[in-house]
Formats: sequence, structure tokens, C-alpha cells
Amino acid sequence: MESNGYQSGFGNEFASEAIPGVLPVGQNSPQRVAHGLYAEQLSGTAFTAPRHGNRRSWLYRIRPAAMHKPFEPLAHASFHNRFDEAPATPNQLRWDPWPLPSTPTDFVDGLVTIAGNGGPAEQAGCGIHLYAANRSMQGRYFYDADGELLIVPQLGRLNIATELGVLQIKPLEIAVIPRGVRFRVELLDAEARGYVAENFGALLRLPDLGPIGANSMALPRDFLAPHASYEDLEGDFELVAKFQGALWKAGIGHSPLDVVAWHGNYAPYKYDLTRFNTVGSISVDHPDPSIFTVLTSPSDTPGTANVDFVIFPPRWLVAERTFRPPYFHRNVASEFMGLIEGVYDAKAGGFAPGGASLHNCMSGHGPDAATFEKASKADVGKPDHITGTMAFMFETRKVIHPTRQALDAPQLQHDYYQCWQGIARHFDPQRA
Ligand SMILES: [Fe+2]
Repeated sequence: MESNGYQSGFGNEFASEAIPGVLPVGQNSPQRVAHGLYAEQLSGTAFTAPRHGNRRSWLYRIRPAAMHKPFEPLAHASFHNRFDEAPATPNQLRWDPWPLPSTPTDFVDGLVTIAGNGGPAEQAGCGIHLYAANRSMQGRYFYDADGELLIVPQLGRLNIATELGVLQIKPLEIAVIPRGVRFRVELLDAEARGYVAENFGALLRLPDLGPIGANSMALPRDFLAPHASYEDLEGDFELVAKFQGALWKAGIGHSPLDVVAWHGNYAPYKYDLTRFNTVGSISVDHPDPSIFTVLTSPSDTPGTANVDFVIFPPRWLVAERTFRPPYFHRNVASEFMGLIEGVYDAKAGGFAPGGASLHNCMSGHGPDAATFEKASKADVGKPDHITGTMAFMFETRKVIHPTRQALDAPQLQHDYYQCWQGIARHFDPQRA
């Protein structure tokens, strides 16, 4: 299905040609491809993965991906997968927004690793990064061999030119760049900032719906893949690879975004978070926040995610006799939160768009004192309309380790715990 210049569907068998007639008929790798192109397969899952989860695409390109100079290490001050630098902490952590760069900084330069777990060697866990940039990637291309990248813009629009075509995203939209796909990020505004989950585990997919039925939550048709769009460019370019937690660079004499046509089900995609069909209680209490899951990377334990991407979108709260903000809780999973816009309904202040919080396994958290007092006295005889907000969570089965640079950053709010210190004692055994 076609939608606004994109191909619509989740994990569909897409096909796209920038020049009509390139895709071979009845086979994938003919002796000669039209127009002198090379055929190349890009496999995102094991060759023998079950059919419903098997992801691969065939690319028809000007030059094969093998053609570049040798890689050599590329130093990067802040983007890595060293999740053992500091002990994981049971303390609740919260950060102010990261500053925007004051010197020319592109998407790759501007990545800062905040936290993570697992790693590329074990093919499980995720890296949690922030990006802040003020210029487009110029003459350089990037791919991540360690995981797929879930990009969550908070400020500024991005034009993401990939091997398989171009995705444009803005805040309240997300993009997923599959492991290995080469791309260049261009800024469409003066500055850009956002969050990135680097998923080392199983590919993100739509959650099962169980008794909800065939509809609701994120709808497959709202996921958009690009059309083939190639660059025929020669020059002195740089190919940056992330491989086993470190960056490498290689010279390349042409643009690697030279795929003229492709078909398959392994492709970048985007999704508009405002399309999420939010489900909630119409009697009392809350469903668990898993009801807000947009995408999930399953682990090898059924029902236990390697990483979930969960959003808290605008919605009506109508539950009767119910404390309507998120309740106090502890969780076997670990929760990293970000805020794209507005106010998160569990906190009266301190959690700003572009900021972040981390509540690790079994660390108590929930509404702050002001939010509790207000909500416990609110009139729940009429609905509340939560508007103009979009918080999200990367929730993982493994404890999330903050990096040393995240713990040492001036953005860390050392007084975060104070938001619960004012919680009043209301207990009175004589009172009903
Ligand atoms: Fe939580």
C-alpha cells in the first residue's frame, strides 16, 4: 500500500524501483542485472530463521558494499557500549536536557551514551544514547553492525538518507534503521536533539494483541518504508562503522547510497506516534503500561522483552474511584524514560523535554508528592483529558547501567529523590 510517498506496512515484502524494470523477475541474482547493476543480499536474521520472522532484502546497486578501503579505528569521546564503567545503582536517577552543541557537530559526532545493558557480543540488551547536532553529516556515511537504531527526535526534523531510500522524521515520529544499513543524517532545522535505542537483541516487532483482538495500539499500516532513491556520486568520502562497541572509519570513493532498486522485508521504517490507537480502562484502575507498547524486541523468555518501546500519549482518563496518574510501583524490569514534549502526568516538575530518568529493577518510584496530593483529591466523576504530551520508555529485562559520563554530567539531578520526601503520612487507624 502507498502512503504519502512511502510504502505502508510492517515487515511486508516491499518492492521499489527508482528506475522502472530493474528488479529481476522470477529470480534474485541473475547473471546480469539491468543497467549494469550489482545484486546483493542484506540479511537481518539468520538464513534459517522461521519464515514469519525472517528478514532479508535484495539490493540492486551501482557498486557492491564490499568496495571500500580498509577500516581503521575512529576515536569517539562519548559514543560507546561500555556499560561496566560504573556500578548499576538502585537510586532513582533523573537528568536535565543535554545541551545543544556550540561547535559544528553532526549526528554521529553528537551521540552520547547514557546507559545500557548487554552488548553486541552477546546479541542481547540495548544501548541508550542521546544525540544533539547542529549540522548535517557531510561526506560521511554510517552503519551500525551492533544493533538496529530506534531514533526518537525531540527537537528538529531529520532527513535520513539510507541505502533503501529516504525517511523524513520530526518530533513525535520515530525511525528504525536496521542493523547494517548505511545512512546519512541531514538536519532540516538549525538544531536537532533526541534519543536513540541501539537494540542488540531480536529485531523490534509489533507486540501481540491477545484478547485485545486484531486492532488497536500501533497499526501495521501506519509503519512506512521508503522507496528506492539512489545517489550516483563519486568523491572522497568516509564510511563510519560501529562494530563491537567501537567506531571504525574507511575511505570510500563513492556514495554507498547507490541502491537503484530493492525488494524484501528488511528495511528502515518510520512511524508517527500520534497515530497510536491508545487503549485504557473504562471502569476502574489502570491496565499495566505494557498496553502502551509500540514496538518490542523479544528475549528468549516468552513474554519478557529484551527491550520495549513504550509511549505515554495524549489520552482520556475516565476510570472511576481510581488514582488516575501512574501509580506507585516497583518493577522487575528496568525503565529509562524520556520526554518529547509537554508534561508527564506523574510529575509536577523537573522532567523536561529532552531530559531523562532511570528507575532500575525494584527501585520504588511513581508520582511525586505534589501529584499525589492533587490526584488523590481530584474529582474523578468526570474525565481528565491529557493533552500536548508525549513521554516514552525504553524498558528492558536487564538492569540498566548508567555510563560514567552520565553519572558525572552536570545534568544529573542530585536532588531527584527529594520529589518523594514530601509525601505526607496520612495513616489514621481511626479514619475510614
Ligand atoms: Fe515505572
